[in-house]
Amino acid sequence: MEENQKILMIEESHLIEPAEEYRSKSYLSSESDYHQEYQSSLNNSDAYWNSIADQLDWFKREKTVLEGDLPDFKYFPGSLINVSYNCVDRHAKSEKANKVAIYWEGENGDKKIYTYKQLLREVSKFANVLLQLGIKKGDVVSVYMQNLPETFIVLQAVLRIGAIYNTVFAGFSPEALRERINNSGAKMLVCSNISFRRGKVLPLKEIVDEALQDAPTIEKVVVFKRADHEVAMSAGRDFDYDTLMAEVNDECPPVALDPNDPGLLIYTSGTSGKPKGIVHAGGGFLLGTYAYSKYQLDLRDEDVYFNTADIGWLTSHIFVLVGGLASGVTTILYEGALDYPHPGRLYEMIDRYQVNKLFSAPTAFRMLMKHGDELVQQYKLNTLELFASVGEPLNPEAWHWLQRSLGKGKAVINNTWGQTETGGTPLALLPGAVSMKPGSCGVPFFAHELAVVDASGHDVEPMTPGFLVLRRPFPTLARDVWNDHERYLKTYFSQVTGAYFTGDSAIVDRDGHFWVLGRVDDVINVSGHRISTMEMESALIKHDAVVEAAVIEQPDEIKGTIPIAFVTLEKSYHASNEVEEMLKRQIVDEIGAFARPQKIYFVDVMPKTRSGKIIRRMLREIVQTGEVTGDRTGLEDIEVIDKLLNYMKD
Ligand code: PRX
Repeated sequence: MEENQKILMIEESHLIEPAEEYRSKSYLSSESDYHQEYQSSLNNSDAYWNSIADQLDWFKREKTVLEGDLPDFKYFPGSLINVSYNCVDRHAKSEKANKVAIYWEGENGDKKIYTYKQLLREVSKFANVLLQLGIKKGDVVSVYMQNLPETFIVLQAVLRIGAIYNTVFAGFSPEALRERINNSGAKMLVCSNISFRRGKVLPLKEIVDEALQDAPTIEKVVVFKRADHEVAMSAGRDFDYDTLMAEVNDECPPVALDPNDPGLLIYTSGTSGKPKGIVHAGGGFLLGTYAYSKYQLDLRDEDVYFNTADIGWLTSHIFVLVGGLASGVTTILYEGALDYPHPGRLYEMIDRYQVNKLFSAPTAFRMLMKHGDELVQQYKLNTLELFASVGEPLNPEAWHWLQRSLGKGKAVINNTWGQTETGGTPLALLPGAVSMKPGSCGVPFFAHELAVVDASGHDVEPMTPGFLVLRRPFPTLARDVWNDHERYLKTYFSQVTGAYFTGDSAIVDRDGHFWVLGRVDDVINVSGHRISTMEMESALIKHDAVVEAAVIEQPDEIKGTIPIAFVTLEKSYHASNEVEEMLKRQIVDEIGAFARPQKIYFVDVMPKTRSGKIIRRMLREIVQTGEVTGDRTGLEDIEVIDKLLNYMKD
């Protein structure tokens, strides 16, 4: 949508009150409560974070809440805490011991249940496995697994002993996995032998073996057997998960850690070709994600909460693995595709477990909308009362459909905004209290100071687009880029003095609701997967056939946006379906299947500035509107546009 159209839509948007039925039981019951509490959390953010810290268990609690300021800050320095203790032991040792923590379903119908007590036993056992294999505080463990209870066990065990985990999405290629292992210097890798996706077997261990051909830091590999499927095991390096687990003690004391010690590492795309390792502090991440999960999802003891996020992306860590478990909820974990083996698979699970809170990606909601109301009517779906999403725009059409169809007209819909770097969602609704606006990302979370600013860092007026920034620290904000502190400072703290720069543009409307318009850099968002167009271009240019490449995004009804590539070929290659397929494959091999371009256009020329930079804006216009209306004066060769337009007509 054009920016002007968007502004008009925002101008005309209306507040929708949450249903009284919901409001009467939510943590916060009115918008004025929110405003009051928000204001006092800004006036004294130490008191706010202290009130959250009071709800967690500490080994030692010092008085200082925040030391320093952006970009160099610490929360509760010198205090001692353990994430896994707060997510698991705390509940296992309470009246929740036999409460179900995880209901797991495999795509093929396999099922498992873990109570908090059982989870504690398994986490402790795997922590002992890690120690036995020589992993200690500060070591990096790479985890290449799909959504399984064992993935949660492994990650919680890493946090328990003070090591650092790096989850790598189990859809990444061997090259992408290798790049992450080598950048992180991981000592150990945990994977499953296979995964199921749309009925197909994904050979995860085979991919690991390929990645490890040139990843010298990995000393040990632990393989979890998801299902019977022979895999090669390298003697001395590879170990079987079940065999190791059978041999260890089921008690392992959690290590007391400074809350600013690194706990997890997750790679994400940025403005340059190489993905960067975002470092999150373990205790800080716990503190913040606990607060986001509890108050933005309004999590309560009786909830049955289904978050469909994949453990390869940070959403699952924020709202399930750490924030969700710290809140002691019952959660549903699902391995596969939501519409496999039939379009009603998700609905079937909602009815089976009586889910009342559903967190999923806007792309998934749009897919459900496409399957239509007839499918909805085949299921009860009478327990649902809250929907939440993150990662990409939740368009008003999908919002209204959700509300009317799955939400039976009375559910709360929470379109939250966050980033891998923010480690949580600084923008969202407080369900029940804050009125909803379809398409908006809600209001600032407690003790978070957000602003929309111009290029010189001054606040812009309401209804004016500008850069979205955060003006004070918060516990889940990334503490570093792994092995590249310069890049951390340059990417996030060099644009606007004293503020964290998000890379997004946004508008604040007259009701104080925030609307995120999109990225101001070359990152695109495909089904909520964040991809750098530069990373895709680098992958294409690596291929002998490619002289130049430019990648742009095109709007898509389901996925939000899809990538399209323009390529000029080396002379000995000629445009053909085979070459197109070969180059699509190149991207899949280098990055992963989710980055596969929808289409590759082979062109002889590219629109360029006089200094030789490709003007992607013009390519975007050509693809999206079939013309170039903007200023052409910057072009090195003015005729290029007509040549491209003619080419596109053919
Ligand atoms: O552009 C914003 C978009 O997704 C980016 C962050 O992507 P990622 O790091 O993969 O997010 C992980 C989520 C924990 C943001 O810079 N984005 C996120 N939420 C929204 C959004 N765009 C529009 N609306 C949202 N609700």
